[in-house]
Amino acid sequence: MSLLSGTKILLGISGGIAAYKTPLLVRELVKNGAEVRVVMTPSAKDFVTPLTLATVSTNPVLSSFTSTDQDNPLWNDHVKLGLWADLFLIAPATSNTLSAMAQGRCNNLLLAVYLSAKCPVFIAPAMDLDMFAHPSNQKNIKTLSSFGNKLLPVGEGFLASGLEGKGRMLEPQQIVNYVVDFFNPNLPLKDKLVLITAGPTYEAIDPVRFIGNHASGKMGFALAEVAANLGAKVILVSGPTTEKIRHPQIELKAVVSASKMFEMVKETYDSVDIAIAAAAVADYKPDRKEEQKIKKNAGHMTLNLVPTQDILAYMGTHKKAQYLLGFALETNNELENALEKLERKNLDGIVLNSLQDAGAGFSVPTNKITFIHSDKSMHAFPLQSKDACAEAIFDQIIPHDS
Ligand code: CTP
Repeated sequence: MSLLSGTKILLGISGGIAAYKTPLLVRELVKNGAEVRVVMTPSAKDFVTPLTLATVSTNPVLSSFTSTDQDNPLWNDHVKLGLWADLFLIAPATSNTLSAMAQGRCNNLLLAVYLSAKCPVFIAPAMDLDMFAHPSNQKNIKTLSSFGNKLLPVGEGFLASGLEGKGRMLEPQQIVNYVVDFFNPNLPLKDKLVLITAGPTYEAIDPVRFIGNHASGKMGFALAEVAANLGAKVILVSGPTTEKIRHPQIELKAVVSASKMFEMVKETYDSVDIAIAAAAVADYKPDRKEEQKIKKNAGHMTLNLVPTQDILAYMGTHKKAQYLLGFALETNNELENALEKLERKNLDGIVLNSLQDAGAGFSVPTNKITFIHSDKSMHAFPLQSKDACAEAIFDQIIPHDS
């Protein structure tokens, strides 16, 4: 999914330490489908090189009014640049650049582009906490807002000065989210909260052993990523996995056992709009965890197992306005079993995958799913990547007008 496909974004970089993050910002914008050009102040070049930015943006980078190319001076047309862009994003905007913009000063190319740009302007300030709090900066920020520019908030945390507080440039992904929001004001899951369980659970036998399964977490993480890209805030409760979250709108709650996963789900379930149980939760756990490592002896050994909480069944019983989706991983009587689970757990939909299908199920990057709605209508999908499955699943969940 390319949320910025067809958009032209002009990135203006001024000379602050946060400029070192801008290649990542460019990369994220490009990854989302945007065409990016960069204009930078001369002092920004002390923090990040034009070569890096030209490479990641695949466009020439401009920093002065003229370029001397083989004794043939060219005028870098700031008016054209401003007209080219659908959005002018200034990140980082230093105290000096903010003040020059507020006062209409024009002693570098970035400022000239700003003064001549007709497109919307987003500004991501970055400075030390006391500078940011200073009345002159606050006044400049107000002035720029009154011009119709969008001032992005600053982040809080460690600053280059060694101090801690408000003033950091937002992280590249957070800036990209603002840009994505701007170009996609009608994202279908905007302002929605989505809860997803993912991965396996490990049920401890003793300090070194557990009962677990082969679930990788891939399907649940792919669902979380798609939900976040559709505008949702996501709470991802996952058992042990090597999967990583990428989207800042995803909050990962890492757990190990079924009972911890259940605790986390209970904490948030009431406030979510959509809940998806993609975890392979252990159905049984040892009736107790041995304090010491169990020693080997000659005879047989028996483990006493007791059932774990069925987390999805709990969500079905306590369902209010949530949309509730479960998974059914089956080896036989697939459809019959899935329909039985759909009803028994009071679900709005269930995703069936069969271990009979090559390339489907645990640990593999692909899956072959059938989506079954509560009215028993269903849609079977071909074998595809788990990312594509996640998109297909949300396409089924989100109501369509036609
Ligand atoms: N599930 C859950 N908590 C459990 C067991 C399962 O939340 N303790 C959820 C899974 O995340 C999945 C759905 O229930 O969405 C079905 O899981 P599955 O293992 O296929 O079914 P079970 O209900 O465990 O039944 P069985 O193992 O007999 O097939």
